Amino acid sequence: MNHFERRDGELFAEGVALRTIADEVGTPTYIYSAATLTRHFTVFDAAWGDIDHTVCYAVKALSNLSVLALLARLGAGFDIVSSGELRRVLAAGGVPSKVVFSGVGKTRDEMREALSVGIKCFNVESEAELHELSEVATELGAVAPVSLRVNPDVDPKTHPYIATGLRESKFGVPWQRAPALYAKAAALPGLKVVGVDCHIGSQLSELAPVLAAMAKLLELVDQLTADGHRIQHLDIGGGLGITYQDETPPTPAAYAKAVMGALGDRQLEIVTEPGRVIAGNAGVLLMRCIRTKDNGEREFVVVDAGMNDAIRPALYGAWHTLEAVVVAPEPPRRVDVVGPVCESGDFFAKQRDLPPIVAGDLLVMRSAGAYGFVMASQYNSRPRPAEVLVNGDRYDVVRRRESYEDLVRGEIIVETPEA
Ligand code: LLP
Repeated sequence: MNHFERRDGELFAEGVALRTIADEVGTPTYIYSAATLTRHFTVFDAAWGDIDHTVCYAVKALSNLSVLALLARLGAGFDIVSSGELRRVLAAGGVPSKVVFSGVGKTRDEMREALSVGIKCFNVESEAELHELSEVATELGAVAPVSLRVNPDVDPKTHPYIATGLRESKFGVPWQRAPALYAKAAALPGLKVVGVDCHIGSQLSELAPVLAAMAKLLELVDQLTADGHRIQHLDIGGGLGITYQDETPPTPAAYAKAVMGALGDRQLEIVTEPGRVIAGNAGVLLMRCIRTKDNGEREFVVVDAGMNDAIRPALYGAWHTLEAVVVAPEPPRRVDVVGPVCESGDFFAKQRDLPPIVAGDLLVMRSAGAYGFVMASQYNSRPRPAEVLVNGDRYDVVRRRESYEDLVRGEIIVETPEA
């Protein structure tokens, strides 16, 4: 459920007309609904009932400081993959003791920084990382809490770019090797084994792969416990999917129920790392039609947002609903919605039936809250969009639109020798 709804035919975010935001802030602009973010987090968190759990929101999905602050106030922990994300979490008032640090490429500097603030857990993804973390912790006289990210080799049945738990994936350690690596971890100075971690992929729309991974993880937990390790938490990663078009992913309640059912009476804290399910349908990208064109073969709606602003259609062939903010009463036309970037991959929809759109009309791309702004670039020297957070009848610009000065910040014109 989200709070982007029509009133008298016109699209609103909570109590604010999107047209008002377009007029006052301009386009393209990402718009997030605070009520929707709150609802998604609360529903996900409540799904675990009384069992000991920590919901570590995956910062990478949508990392605006105001969004992180809202989630921190609701009691969220955070899943980070870089020092940059750690700094955002701290700046937004997140609690370090609820932060888990994932990723195959943590640098020693990043390890140092995370150790110095005292995070909940390092999700270690290789034997080499285990040794480095041990060295860094020992140098600092600290103890690093660790889980190994194990790769259960299950097919999450999602887009290949976002499937992460297959044997050939760069992520995690093979689950068969996990017991030996846990023994190493326990023997290394500066490390404390606290959990087991896994993340099989994103936009999961079925429970079966989650349950297949759970079965392997629990088998491992039981073996590690028998080996004398004290496994306190099981981190099952993120990945729960959302509806973009006609997908029917499990609800958070069904997902939690299945996981808790598999868990049985094991006394384990459950850690989760949801990103998309919290942020995805809590955001839209608002854009304006610059002009339309007809090349005889196809009709194009050229909008002022491009693949640099929202890359999911170009990168994954992802389907996002596009809607006119005010719908014209005439019958739909079959169009391609394209951006201004000089690439044929710069499209948001192909051969989509939309109500007639003319220059100046406003459109939104739905389900753009997750992996939207965070994946935006300045390609074609296009300043990145503004971000707005709506809360009831008010809205705030929570990141101003980039300017030309922002585009060239840090660049220097050097003297080059004359030819
Ligand atoms: N935990 C780890 C270790 C992850 O790698 C990810 C996502 C998550 C949690 C959060 O997954 P979520 O709940 O959001 O599915 N850019 C792609 C998605 C990449 C996901 C990367 N990892 C997209 O736009 O579909």
